[in-house]
This record gives sequence, structure tokens and C-alpha cells, in this order.
Amino acid sequence: MVGKYATETLRADNGGIERAAQILRGGGLVAVPTETVYGLAARADDDEAVARIYAAKGRPSFNPLIVHVASLSAAERLAVFSEAARALARQYWPGPLTLVLSRQRGAGLAAAVTAGLDTVALRMPSHPAMRDLLEFTGLPLAAPSANRSGFVSPTSAAHVLGALDGRIDAVIDGGPSEAGIESTIVAVGEDGSRRVLRPGPILLEDIARPDAGGRIEAPGQLASHYSPGKPVRLDATEVAPDDFVIGFGAMEGDCTLSEAGDLAEAAARLYACFHQGAISDKPRIAVAPIPEEGIGIAINDRLRRAATPPD
Ligand code: TXA
Ligand code: MG
Repeated sequence: MVGKYATETLRADNGGIERAAQILRGGGLVAVPTETVYGLAARADDDEAVARIYAAKGRPSFNPLIVHVASLSAAERLAVFSEAARALARQYWPGPLTLVLSRQRGAGLAAAVTAGLDTVALRMPSHPAMRDLLEFTGLPLAAPSANRSGFVSPTSAAHVLGALDGRIDAVIDGGPSEAGIESTIVAVGEDGSRRVLRPGPILLEDIARPDAGGRIEAPGQLASHYSPGKPVRLDATEVAPDDFVIGFGAMEGDCTLSEAGDLAEAAARLYACFHQGAISDKPRIAVAPIPEEGIGIAINDRLRRAATPPD
């Protein structure tokens, strides 16, 4: 134990969900499995609980959180849904799509959840343990990725403990995250307009073109993010002996994203390879070229941010 909490590891069964619900109702922090990455959950209606998320992650207070809900009707209590937003929710929920919508006044969300914005980010996840937890607590749960701010997102309970052991009350071990990359974020205007703020597992071409201006639209989408804590070189076709190589397809690595060149498999393994690279004794990370198509667009988005040194 490194911090002030004795972090419990819970199973993704009824007993584990009940214990997690008890901690959350009391305002505590529980890291939870989702189909994208592990999240760090707290009840979204409690200022102190939400403040604990920011403290445990070292997250800047200007960066708002995604609120996770059990149903579309729970979501409609928190945000104003246009027909376009409802259609996206019906098509993709439960699943890895986050909708940014106008906030419903008087919905009872802690102010820090939305970092002072008039909008709120909502998602209904599909991971069975997370769905059980949302239904069992009956609470909207704020949950950013369960990493220290700026670093690689976790796709296993072990990754969560590596970053947050002693800083949170518990983690539910629900096995490796299936998609492995954070949800696609789309802002839907009350007029039905759509803007992609973060590429992810739901493919852009199915929703809307990404914002072409390269502006930072999601406050957390900073140029430098997902850092494994050492220099990262992209599109590497030649490598040196002191490179930790992340391979793809024909280019084999110390960790290979997908020998078969399968982009979905590569997304699922991306952060596990980053975590391996981070703890290896090699001083640098070199990454094979990844095709800019399908979920490869989201993979390259994360790789570019990981390769950008912090200010
Ligand atoms: O897959 C996911 O989305 C995971 C799992 C745990 O659900 N969560 C996740 O949360 O990736 P986080 O906090 O790491 O990323 C949320 C992003 C941040 O870039 C944040 O700035 C943006 O969503 N965001 C949250 N509320 C927003 C809002 N009202 N307007 C624009 N962007 C928002
Ligand atoms: Mg994150």
C-alpha cells in the first residue's frame, strides 16, 4: 500500500458488485471494468465524491468527466436529447459512444463533473459488470479512465493497481477490456448537428466527419496525453537495440499489436503494449506504422498524443 487507502480487489460477481455499490453510495472511489478501458467511478451527484476523482488522478479541474448511466431514460434526466441524439443513443447504446449534450438544469449533478460547461458527456456502457453496478446503485456514475492524469489508460485491473493502488477504495476485476481504446465522443447540437470530439471504437464514417480544424474540442484532448513516461517514435521501419518495439503485422516487436495485421486486435492490445514498454528497461519506444483506416484512426490519434512530449 502506497497511499492512505487499503485498495480492495473485488470480483465481478454479485458479492463484488454489492460491495462496490456500498462504497460508491458512501462517496468512495471504485475502479470499474468497461468495454473500452477501466474507469474510476464515483457518484456523479456528490461534490465530495467527484472531488476525490480529481485528487486521485491528479486531474486538472478544467477537464470534465463522462457520466455513465444505466438507461436512456436515466440519460434524459441529465441532458436535453434532440431526435438526432436519441437516434444515436438507440443505435449505439449500450456501447462505446459518448454523447455531449446540453445539460438539463436542476439535474443534480455535482458542478465539478461538467467543469463549469453547459454541456454534459453521457455514456451507457455495455460491460456486464458495469451495467450491473449502474442498475444496482441506481446512481449516475462519473468515471474518467482510471489512470494518473496524462498517462496511459488501463485495460486491466493490474494496470489500475499499478497507477492507483492506495489512492482508491477498490477495483472490480472484470478481465481485460474488449475494445481497449476509449469511447468515440460526439457532440450533438440541439439542432441535430454532430461533431466528433474524439475518435474511438464507433467509426467516424458511421457518424460524422471529424472536426477538420484540429482545435481542441474535448477539454481533455490535449496534444500530449497517454504518456508511457519515455520518448515514443512513430512509423518506425528501422529500430535500434535499445528501442522497445511495438510491432504490427509483418513487423514483429517486443510486444506485437496484431501479427495478423488486425486493427481491432491492435486497439485491444495498444495500452497493454504501452504499459509493458513503460516498465521495460529500454529507454525508448518505437512503434510500427499503423494504417489510418477504421479503428486505426483512433489508434493513430492516441499514438500521436503519446509521442508528443509534455510542455
Ligand atoms: O471509454 C471511455 O470514454 C472511458 C470509460 C471509462 O468510459 N472514459 C474516458 O474518460 O475516456 P476520460 O475522462 O479519460 O475522457 C473523457 C473525455 C475528456 O477528454 C473530456 O475532456 C471529455 O471527455 N469531456 C467530458 N465532458 C465533456 C463536455 N461536456 N464537452 C466536451 N468534452 C467533454
Ligand atoms: Mg482518459
